[in-house]
Amino acid sequence: MDGKAPNSLEVISQNIGSMVDTTILAIESSCDDTAAAVCSNGKILSNIIANQAVHEKYGGVVPELASRAHLQNIVPVVTEALKVADCNLSSIDAIAFTQAPGLIGSLLVGAQFAKSLALSLNKPLIAVHHMQAHVLANLIADEKPSFPFLCLTVSGGHTQIVLCESPLKMKVIGETIDDAAGEAFDKTAKLLGLPYPGGPLVDKYAQQGNPNRFQFPEPKIPGLNFSFSGLKTSILYFLNNAGTSNVFKEEFKVSETDKKIFIDQNLADICASVQDRIISILINKLKKAAKEYKINQICIAGGVSANSGLRKALKETGEKMGWQTFIPAFQYCTDNAAMIAITAHFKYLNNDFSDLSISPSPRAIWS
Ligand code: KG4
Ligand code: ZN
Repeated sequence: MDGKAPNSLEVISQNIGSMVDTTILAIESSCDDTAAAVCSNGKILSNIIANQAVHEKYGGVVPELASRAHLQNIVPVVTEALKVADCNLSSIDAIAFTQAPGLIGSLLVGAQFAKSLALSLNKPLIAVHHMQAHVLANLIADEKPSFPFLCLTVSGGHTQIVLCESPLKMKVIGETIDDAAGEAFDKTAKLLGLPYPGGPLVDKYAQQGNPNRFQFPEPKIPGLNFSFSGLKTSILYFLNNAGTSNVFKEEFKVSETDKKIFIDQNLADICASVQDRIISILINKLKKAAKEYKINQICIAGGVSANSGLRKALKETGEKMGWQTFIPAFQYCTDNAAMIAITAHFKYLNNDFSDLSISPSPRAIWS
């Protein structure tokens, strides 16, 4: 011990760690990434991801193509995860998989693979909720938040503020009523003519732009909920009128050529201004939640938490507000199996196993 009092998670791990020795193989296939990871006693030994480039030309994920690509990728990805972790199937104590939410065809591939492995190896099966796993990605690093903490989970399909009281006790206290933050990034990119997924590209261009150049409206949504669909519409009208008016109305419309010239000449400033607005919407709600729940342990998670502007804004806000902030390493922000493995680790310690009759579900029902 270095003289610091252990936080509550360390206490749990210390107490139970001496009783059980677990190595878990985890599989994630909820959308368009096929991923596998191995975790031993809460420590990630491997984290392998196969991305699916096939969707790029369609401007979004094509569900059937995603399922087919998962079928092709799953064996090599699992084999590689075991190899990097320097273990084999006989040393695995349990098989975990993403059970919900996601694209049903994609989930089915991972679920069926995990169930078959569990059956053939006679090992327990652990079903993991993808959104809970995003939150628990914050427990992978050595420096962990103590409980209770708040997590802003921002991904392609979800935007949530989660109150996390223990590894397996979580409650959604705020969420989007329409688009997710990742969708706001991706739809902005699409309107700007950038390829899918556009979030990382908006981030890249924003780094060279002026975030105060264009002003986009902030939605007035009560409580801790979010809305991004109005922002998307205002960006559409703004681009249609080539920035000639701050009135976001459909009537002001320039030619497609003038619109393209406007975008080309102002790409960095548009990206920086849109990103700045998305971040201010997220951070303002996080401040409200922290105040309401009197919590100063604040985390972010999900694909959008890879955004450089959001990471910087969280750190700066944390310093001002006296928060302790936590951001997962880049590889644990976007979809990955390490987050499934760490969640399964806590479920294993809690004897929370599933039988082979379990089915995946496309919807995000929290247990
Ligand atoms: O968590 P994730 O990998 O998959 C889902 O569960 O949805 O999140 C994907 C989302 C996409 O919308 C993608 O554009 C966004 O995360 N994203 C980013 C960045 N990296 C990924 N958005 C903004 N800036 C980034 N650097
Ligand atoms: Zn995700």
